[in-house]
Amino acid sequence: MKPFLQVLRGEAQKVPPVWIMRQAGRYLPEYREIRAKARDFVDFCLTPDLAIEATLQPIRRYGMDAAILFADILLIPQAMGQSLAFVEGEGPKLEPIRDREGLKRLTVNGVAERLQPVMETVKGVKAALPGTVALIGFAGAPWTVATYMIEGGGGSDHALIRRMAWSDPVLFGGILDALTEATIAYLIAQIDAGAEVLQLFDTWAGSVPAPLFERAVIQPAAQIVKAIKAHAPHVPVIGFPRAAAPHLAAYAARTGVDGVGIDHMTPLSFAAGAVTPDKALQGNLDPILLLAGGETMTDEASRLVRAMTGRPYIFNLGHGVLPATPPEHVAQLLAAVRGA
Ligand code: CP3
Repeated sequence: MKPFLQVLRGEAQKVPPVWIMRQAGRYLPEYREIRAKARDFVDFCLTPDLAIEATLQPIRRYGMDAAILFADILLIPQAMGQSLAFVEGEGPKLEPIRDREGLKRLTVNGVAERLQPVMETVKGVKAALPGTVALIGFAGAPWTVATYMIEGGGGSDHALIRRMAWSDPVLFGGILDALTEATIAYLIAQIDAGAEVLQLFDTWAGSVPAPLFERAVIQPAAQIVKAIKAHAPHVPVIGFPRAAAPHLAAYAARTGVDGVGIDHMTPLSFAAGAVTPDKALQGNLDPILLLAGGETMTDEASRLVRAMTGRPYIFNLGHGVLPATPPEHVAQLLAAVRGA
């Protein structure tokens, strides 16, 4: 069995499997080259030949233990009917949803069908991957996707969604429920196309007010995991509730995930105490260390690997690789992890 899948069954490996979040992307010259062939980023994601190539590029260059489907968490709102554009240098822009009329305009039915090009990408990657490399499918978690849908873009303090969550829980819950349902259909379609593992990115879990964490993060993740397990009991799910360390224990215990992604603000030793040892931990090197590379980076990587000895553990960063990362530092990092 692929080492990546073994870890997610709770079996510690001598050398931890490794992949890095956002491993396909702008830091790679070969990515920038093919990215220039598409009209815009959404088009790029929805053109299987390009997305297959982008998925495979880091695997060819570095030989990670897992490939992650090349797509984006914001394809779901677009497939539900919300307009989406990626403005060069500014990030995503969506026509914001702020009221019941906005919610009514969203369609859950047919989301997976409208994202059929993503399934073609999954199939194409699966057919081309080396036999030891696992294929990760993914989606954004409902809270994180909802932040973009309600704020209309990235934002920083997420004031609008927090205000809605407190003052109109019915509307807020309606948006979360619609997203949960669409996400389940989308992830199940990815499994049927060949995804072997799923990751749920809750990038903005850290901005959820504590009393709402159960409703906004844990409940939707639990529903998604339950539906996935009902469809495909053998497909493991990794949850990444970023910057939400005080809730890690509850998240791990109540969502049913098989692995938990840990951000670089959270000590791995704390995470190891909060998450029962039957579940894998994944993380959590500070992505900034890859800018300078060298011994500061490799020493820290070795320290993480040693600290996780005997525990089911996947080496990764605490968040996505930065576009300014020199590609050769990623090679150094993998060598350090595998030689540690
Ligand atoms: O290699 C991989 O990880 C696979 C592909 C992937 C992308 N986005 C490609 C991408 C994955 C898994 C994502 C997830 C994603 N998308 C998240 C969660 C993970 C995280 O980093 O927190 C979020 C929050 C998004 C939303 C998103 N997509 C933003 C905010 C942006 C713009 C900001 C930026 O980095 O430019 C994107 C664009 C995006 N998604 C790019 C890539 C490679 C860059 C766009 C380009 O090439 O023009």
